[in-house]
Amino acid sequence: MMALTGLFLITFLAVHLIGNLQLLKDDGGKAFNVYAEFMSTNPVIQTVSKGNFAFILIHIIWAIILTKKNKDARGANGYAVTSSKSSIWSSRNMGILGTVILVFLVVHLKHFWAEMHYGGIPTVNYEGKEVRDIYSVVAHWFAVDWYVALYVFCMVGVAFHLWHGFTSAFQTLGLNHMKYNPVINFVGKAFAIVVPALFAWIPISMFFKF
Ligand code: HEM
Repeated sequence: MMALTGLFLITFLAVHLIGNLQLLKDDGGKAFNVYAEFMSTNPVIQTVSKGNFAFILIHIIWAIILTKKNKDARGANGYAVTSSKSSIWSSRNMGILGTVILVFLVVHLKHFWAEMHYGGIPTVNYEGKEVRDIYSVVAHWFAVDWYVALYVFCMVGVAFHLWHGFTSAFQTLGLNHMKYNPVINFVGKAFAIVVPALFAWIPISMFFKF
């Protein structure tokens, strides 16, 4: 469950990033607004979106169940050695990293997703078509220093979470093979660095008006 929902969320992240990169276009937010309007009104995307929220919930609930099971299985004493050269920091702290991402998601969904779906945001007119101006909401928040700092900090959490999670998902599903492991490892580590870095770059570049 963790691996399958995790891989779905990884795919979501890649698609979400491609959409958000429209924010970097110097067009006053037009490309991003048109993209966001399509995503929030297309019935197929809206069905996938419901699945997305369900998978996020399952991923969180399963993580809590697994953590409790692991703790119970170890008994009252826990591990005699808590840091080991055979496991990396991110793999031992997936719960903490996941919690950072959860806090990020609550803030993020409240300010952007809830605003888009339930807020009374202004509209703009592009070639006779009325479109909600979600760009103005993003631009408003990405001009606030602590908000940009929070995003950048949380993207470091996302990076560490993916650093272990991406390759671990393949391992859990038994999709590991001496021949393919180097490729899975390379793609996993590259994804864990490039995707959060680009997510962080968007608020940074908007804040500093690059
Ligand atoms: C520069 C960074 C980001 C920006 C500007 C951004 C922007 C947005 C916007 C505008 C929406 C509402 C779109 C709509 O419902 O039509 C949204 C939804 C969402 N975002 Fe982000 N986002 C960013 C990063 C992230 C990250 C890093 C994650 C996950 C770790 C994330 C998770 C989500 C989720 C789960 C939704 C709800 C999607 C759905 O309706 O299925 N976002 N984001």
